[in-house]
Amino acid sequence: MDVESVRWLRSEDGQRVLARAAELDEPDPLRAHATLERACPGTPSQLLAVALTQAELRLRAVEKFGELAGSMYFTPDGLEQATRLSVATHRAARLAVFGAASVVDLGCGIGGDLVAFARAGLTAAGVDLDPVRVAVAEANLAALGLPGAVGEADALEVDVAPFDVAFADPARRTGRGRTFSPDAWTPPWSFVESLLGGDACVKTAPGIPHELVPAGVEAEWVSDHGEVKEAALWGGRLATADRRATVIGDGGLATLTEEDDPGADVVPLGRFLYEPDGAVIRAGLVTAVAAGVRGGLLDRHIAYVTAEESFRTPFARSYEVLETLPYREKQLRAALHERGVGRLTIKKRGVDVVPDQLRKRLALTGDNEATIVLTRVGGQGTCLLVRPF
Ligand SMILES: C[S@@+](CC[C@H](N)C(=O)[O-])C[C@H]1O[C@@H](n2cnc3c(N)ncnc32)[C@H](O)[C@@H]1O
Repeated sequence: MDVESVRWLRSEDGQRVLARAAELDEPDPLRAHATLERACPGTPSQLLAVALTQAELRLRAVEKFGELAGSMYFTPDGLEQATRLSVATHRAARLAVFGAASVVDLGCGIGGDLVAFARAGLTAAGVDLDPVRVAVAEANLAALGLPGAVGEADALEVDVAPFDVAFADPARRTGRGRTFSPDAWTPPWSFVESLLGGDACVKTAPGIPHELVPAGVEAEWVSDHGEVKEAALWGGRLATADRRATVIGDGGLATLTEEDDPGADVVPLGRFLYEPDGAVIRAGLVTAVAAGVRGGLLDRHIAYVTAEESFRTPFARSYEVLETLPYREKQLRAALHERGVGRLTIKKRGVDVVPDQLRKRLALTGDNEATIVLTRVGGQGTCLLVRPF
């Protein structure tokens, strides 16, 4: 898509064709094109393709943007790189609570974060090197009736002083795919580090090593419905902890920091097992979850928590431990066969097992469903039959 196509999509004609494209229920692209051509005679073929692609991207975007997706604009890469609404809304809320009135988004892409900032009532300005993304971000603010400004500029040359907060979400892709080498990010790590000297937030990949986080900067790992989405670094007065895990779920949002972590010991297997959320694990706060459920670790180096009591916690999936099954494959197969198990969920940590391969080898045929956890307890390979609750 080019800037002209974005402009056309926003025109009366573009809106009409796009609305028609969205109504089509035709999976075959050639047939969809022909049907749209009949519905919108005189529209150049390449604009019909633009509208069809946009309608398809809007559908794909629902997973990230919910009902806003239907009126937003996307490019394929811009959508893929965009922050999902739930996570961006949380970030924007943190800025609002901090008392920021304005924010500059240094590499705003199609505006995933920018839109959330504006929705939170902040005066939001975005820049991007890519003119198409600038046009799309602008279109998104307008489509959602939000104020804000977007311009084509190099983030490295923007004066951030007039803004309360600077935000960056560096592009983390190279020609060879995603990279965890921060020197290859654009804008690069040196720029990120300089921003974090002031009131700033920088979105990074969840895999960021703890040693890379500058002193005095908070690292917040954020998950959405159990999937870790990012590590946000908060600098200046926005840093309120060293490490934080924020989990977003159906019930809202919950957050843990190192201040909630009194530490925990290794304890014997209890009646319940807890599988901490990925954000908790990345933030190094598994022991905080153990303390929260009045339990301990099954193994010092494995992220399973066990306790005698059952708790509902947003920070972990909880299981009741039903029994210990044999760890050896032949005996395990017999035990599962005896229990009529045909469908098996295999969880594992700290042991060298490939669940899909094991499931195939077990060749189970029963009618029952079961979940097993393969891990180490007291240094020994152990298989637990558990029930999620
Ligand atoms: C990961 S995307 C941002 C996604 C955005 N946060 C969102 O939610 O839609 C990174 C963006 O930074 C832009 N970018 C990279 N280097 C830049 C620079 N030096 N100046 C301005 N923009 C830059 C890229 O064009 C890309 O659109």
